[in-house]
Amino acid sequence: MKFLIINGPNLNLLGLREPDIYGSQSYAALCDFIGEVCQSEGIEYKLFQSNHEGAIVDEIQAAYKCFDGIVINPAAYTHTSVAILDALKAVAIPTAEVHLSDVNSREDFRRFSYVSLVAAKTVCGRGFEGYREAILFLKDYIENDL
Ligand code: DQA
Repeated sequence: MKFLIINGPNLNLLGLREPDIYGSQSYAALCDFIGEVCQSEGIEYKLFQSNHEGAIVDEIQAAYKCFDGIVINPAAYTHTSVAILDALKAVAIPTAEVHLSDVNSREDFRRFSYVSLVAAKTVCGRGFEGYREAILFLKDYIENDL
């Protein structure tokens, strides 16, 4: 099983960026965490981070027939990007959405997610652990053809 793990804008600044909200661990630490989860589950994975909407769309398109699942934290594009939603719909790869913070208990504009319209599951407010939950969910979802 092969997963594409996508992280959107400003997640490369984890650790530095609003640590009271996103924690003090770096993006490199997040990548290590995701790698350990995937390895222990026997999942092949590719990590991709970009601050650019079009680059994320390109990566999703390139995933067609190459990946079994997509785990995505679209960051700010969560709340704005019809293009990312449409790309996920186009490739029809099972998708789980993750947010480090609890987007539902922050500003009103963070409550709506375009990606939630296509995601099989959304995990938010669990920090790095949310990625584990999303990966395990997606593995089970795909294995059991849900
Ligand atoms: C985020 C939440 C988004 O609202 C925000 O724009 C982000 C990160 C999260 O992981 O909690 O950049 O996706």
